[in-house]
Amino acid sequence: MGRLQPAKLAAMEALYHTEAGAPLRIGGLPDDATRTTRYALTIPHGLSWLLADQADATVAGLEEFPRNNWPEVRIVHWSFDVMVFSGFAMLAVAGWAGWIWWRRRTLAEHPWLLRALVAAGPLGFVAIEAGWVVTEAGRQPWIIYHVMRTADAVTPMPGIAVPLVAFTALYLFLAGVVVALLRRLFLETDETVSPASSA
Ligand code: HEM
Repeated sequence: MGRLQPAKLAAMEALYHTEAGAPLRIGGLPDDATRTTRYALTIPHGLSWLLADQADATVAGLEEFPRNNWPEVRIVHWSFDVMVFSGFAMLAVAGWAGWIWWRRRTLAEHPWLLRALVAAGPLGFVAIEAGWVVTEAGRQPWIIYHVMRTADAVTPMPGIAVPLVAFTALYLFLAGVVVALLRRLFLETDETVSPASSA
């Protein structure tokens, strides 16, 4: 990415200025107007080291690119953070479960682990969506990189709001039906496997 899509990389890391020894930035509030990122947690030299195996390598910041060729920095940076956070959170929960299994050969008796596993359930999906946002929002404003802008590729489609609203309503309705059916199924199963019936 550093070689092929350097503006996307700069947005991912909220790197406004070209820097030797560029840090990795986690979180924070990127501000295009002042070209600064406040309140971020930084790992000094992290980005240079990741990109070039050298702590003092120079990394191009957004200032190298015309302002109208920048992607939405906040969206790209925060989505990247959400993806990486999800990945590391799932890794941590998996490591925790592995540790407990190794020490005690049981998982079901650790309510906090079970809660963490439930909480981690959606994270894989969250990471996939966030990763997709990084890729697609990060390559803006281009639909074909440096050849055609997305704005020039839009096909006029009057009345597109109608199918959008109709399909959204349909999917919300179907989601409700699925939840209701699953709930009923689980409640019925719960009754069939109660201690009285299994005895
Ligand atoms: C843990 C650290 C992670 C790092 C450092 C990382 C890094 C990246 C990078 C750099 C991109 C952008 C690629 C591009 O635009 O060319 C990306 C995209 C993506 N990532 Fe991650 N990722 C991480 C975790 C995850 C996890 C845990 C998932 C899913 C469970 C995930 C799913 C995706 C997806 C679906 C894309 C979009 C790919 C595409 O549309 O081409 N990532 N990731």
